[in-house]
Amino acid sequence: MPILTRPETMERITTPALAEKFIAEQTADIRAQVGDKKVLLALSGGVDSSVVAALLIKAIGRQLVCVHVNHGLLRKGEPEQVIRVFKDEMDANLIYVDASDRFLDKLAGVSDPETKRKIIGGEFIEVFAEEARKLEGITFLAQGTIWPDILESEHGIKAHHNAGGLPEDLNFDLVEPVRILFKDEVRVVGKALGLPDNMVFRQPFPGPGLGVRCLGAITRDRLEAVRESDAILREEFANAGLAGKVWQYFTIVPDFKSVGIKDGRRCDEWPVILRAVNTRDAMTATVENVPFDLLQRITDRITHEVAGVNRVLYDLTPKPTGTIEWE
Ligand code: XMP
Repeated sequence: MPILTRPETMERITTPALAEKFIAEQTADIRAQVGDKKVLLALSGGVDSSVVAALLIKAIGRQLVCVHVNHGLLRKGEPEQVIRVFKDEMDANLIYVDASDRFLDKLAGVSDPETKRKIIGGEFIEVFAEEARKLEGITFLAQGTIWPDILESEHGIKAHHNAGGLPEDLNFDLVEPVRILFKDEVRVVGKALGLPDNMVFRQPFPGPGLGVRCLGAITRDRLEAVRESDAILREEFANAGLAGKVWQYFTIVPDFKSVGIKDGRRCDEWPVILRAVNTRDAMTATVENVPFDLLQRITDRITHEVAGVNRVLYDLTPKPTGTIEWE
């Protein structure tokens, strides 16, 4: 049986050699636990599920079935990267479900943030359960639970968000190969498994994705403005050497317009709000002191390259009083 609790004496995994040792132990444990049975994994492309997928592929190859649900609220290029890394490069047994229309149709006209979150979470479980029911002979469900999830649920800080939520007829045994690791250790293991840096050192991304950054009722055109402006911000931060240095940065598009001028004509278009923050634990956060010339360059690109946008604003608010996300 795999170890379920982090031994107090366990050395922090900080080097490739320690990661290799962990990987060897885990692959042996996974093979012992799973035997010749099949394992199902919801692969979001986030750090934890990606490392779990890479570990399981190493241990049991195509006995792992990955399901990548695209809810239409992912960042630009993310679903493509999941397919390229796992299906093309690692030969994973990967089912890609483009459920964008289904999510966006359900979200149409819904402006309350908590209702939006509930719809996205509920629909995700439904799509995943539908895929699971189509498959035969699945015994196990793999999850990217990590040690802080266990500690936080023990201390009542948050419900253990990985704990299934699947309907009762889908009664799988759990495989949780990174359960005893801290986040920084998951990254070291992911790197040793050969995952690309932009996956392993990815900034945090909320489960409801761009849905909480397209404020109010989501429309497809405004969602596209969030996605495109986010891609420009990430590209410019990477070019300026800020990727991996700033804890979290993203764009928000509110559901109001203002007057501007484009090509000598009046235009009523949305503003894009930039947010870039640093924090240790996301409970409080400070605002990154982004160089003014970089802000100007990002503004120039977004207002010229993103359809429907005529202004760019920088959010100067620490947490508190603001939260990191706007919804
Ligand atoms: P806030 O906005 O509460 O965000 O200051 C703190 C951190 O949590 C992330 N966040 C979420 N993550 N589901 C998630 O998985 C959510 O609904 C959610 N809301 C906020 C946020 O991106 C930040 O890193």
